[in-house]
Amino acid sequence: EKGGYEHFMAKEIHEQPKVIKDTMTSRIIKNEKIRLDDITITKEQIKNIDKIYIVACGTAYHAGLIGKNAIEKLARIPVEVEVASEFRYRDPIINEKTLMIVVSQSGETADTLAALREAKRQNARVIAVTNVVGSSISREADDVLYTWAGPEIAVASTKAYVTQLIAMYIIALFFAENKGTLSNEEIEAIKEEMLLLPEKAEKLLQNEEDIKAFAEENHMHKDMFFLGRGLDYAVAMEGSLKLKEISYIHSEAYAAGELKHGPIALIEDGTVVIALATQESLFEKMVSNIKEVKTRGANVLAFAMEGHTEIEKTVDTAKYIPRTIELLAPVLSVIPLQLLSYYTSIAKGCDVDKPRNLAKSVTVE
Ligand code: F6R
Repeated sequence: EKGGYEHFMAKEIHEQPKVIKDTMTSRIIKNEKIRLDDITITKEQIKNIDKIYIVACGTAYHAGLIGKNAIEKLARIPVEVEVASEFRYRDPIINEKTLMIVVSQSGETADTLAALREAKRQNARVIAVTNVVGSSISREADDVLYTWAGPEIAVASTKAYVTQLIAMYIIALFFAENKGTLSNEEIEAIKEEMLLLPEKAEKLLQNEEDIKAFAEENHMHKDMFFLGRGLDYAVAMEGSLKLKEISYIHSEAYAAGELKHGPIALIEDGTVVIALATQESLFEKMVSNIKEVKTRGANVLAFAMEGHTEIEKTVDTAKYIPRTIELLAPVLSVIPLQLLSYYTSIAKGCDVDKPRNLAKSVTVE
């Protein structure tokens, strides 16, 4: 049942090239419009949306952060992302021009379901991005975009997250097409890069040994920091959550530019810092932030896009992800972070698939 792997998490990490592909199949086809056959929202309704809320919990929330960036950039609609347990209790401004996108692997998360119900009560339209056909969230939403990750057994979400990212890009492109905010060439260029993601993810999975070695060397640390800017910050948050969940190492994700406003006080000799520098337009800024922690003695493992070997001058260990456009980099950069938490958990002798205190589906509010 684990397909030859020692843990479900390893199996699910390795299924990512396939599930990325499955989630795009029949929806993203070269030189054709985005096909979302089951989505009933009309062009007119899309044009009328004046605000989108993406509401979710945990890893799904982190996918929502990438969704905000993609939708705002490609379709020019303002998006707020919020954790469901907060959204519900703050009397958010919702009306018939509001669209809510809920993201939930299980489709059963109580807070997310309650947020969906609140949005519907106030006449907003709801699109659900979920992995479970027939789940409560899929039944109650106006439209459903299924992620085709297949059953996810490990408590720590991996393959569901990357398919949620793909769903976010698809929605952003679909809205951009309907609103006319991008040219056909621009849309085709993004689609073309998306279609290359499965093979690039596969390539990353062939380089596990380095990450495993890093995990084995560093698993005894009590804290780790994850830094990034822009989309890398959202991926840093996901990497940090994964590490906490399954290795019980305290970790924090920080927007790299925010570090000097407080948390840099925590950096001392030997502090492990995982720095994400895949966003080309923010690369130089990120390198300056890495220098700030290096000066304080941090041990830095950095991830950049292939070709940026100059980063080796600044960091202790540099790793590369295959080149893609900035917007899509999270699909690739999250993979080594998943592997890092996986191997750290194993090095510490933790229960990888069933971490303490956690359940796969959180059906209490
Ligand atoms: C993290 C994790 C949780 C879930 C969260 C939402 O690895 O598994 O943070 O992402 O509980 O669950 P769903 O997506 O089922 O609503």
